Amino acid sequence: MAAIRFERSLPQTGPTIRRFSLRKDLETVLEFQFEVYEGNFPGFRVDKSFRDDYTRDLRRAAGDPNEMLYVLEEDRQLVGFIWGAMMATLVDDRVGYIKNVYVAPHLRGTGEAQRLMDAIEDWMWDQDAEKIMLDASVVNARAVAFYEKLGYDVERVRMVKRPSGADPNRW
Ligand SMILES: CC(C)(COP(=O)(O)OP(=O)(O)OC[C@H]1O[C@@H](n2cnc3c(N)ncnc32)[C@H](O)[C@@H]1OP(=O)(O)O)[C@@H](O)C(=O)NCCC(=O)NCCS
Repeated sequence: MAAIRFERSLPQTGPTIRRFSLRKDLETVLEFQFEVYEGNFPGFRVDKSFRDDYTRDLRRAAGDPNEMLYVLEEDRQLVGFIWGAMMATLVDDRVGYIKNVYVAPHLRGTGEAQRLMDAIEDWMWDQDAEKIMLDASVVNARAVAFYEKLGYDVERVRMVKRPSGADPNRW
């Protein structure tokens, strides 16, 4: 007689989103910035002075009611981060600005980045944002495609001219 195997189904444990904790998350979020900054600003190197400045900004933002930071956590490891802030522009009093978004490579293309965006956008609409903005680099075609997929349109374009003979690949 065939043995009957009893398999306990484990609860689904997908990544979860929670508020950023300066004490628990700072070091990992700093590690994420190597790819965010060096991947979007070719030629830029994340160094100690950048890390010090970024740490100071994170400390300030974590205590600012006009800013919100979420992390994505999977099996007690940080696998994503998003940072948004409410600000005013010349023409809008209340704009949500997405400062930073990152998901770990193994979660790209899975919808987890969109969950982070949904979370920060929900927070911004709750803050009565008239619109939500972000900046992207054309070198990061994946990020640009990601934002377009989520409904973002290009509103302003930064145009650049270099001296003749300059390396066109150098930023
Ligand atoms: C930017 C980021 C958050 C997007 O998350 P993601 O999970 O990779 O995004 P998605 O896969 O949902 O969407 C990317 C889209 O671009 C497409 N894409 C992938 N590579 C591409 C490329 N080289 N050129 C154009 N489109 C590309 C994908 O197919 C996908 O579209 P689809 O869902 O219609 O197939 C993530 O890639 C990331 O963390 N990157 C490193 C940090 C970073 O650069 N952050 C952005 C700073 S502006």
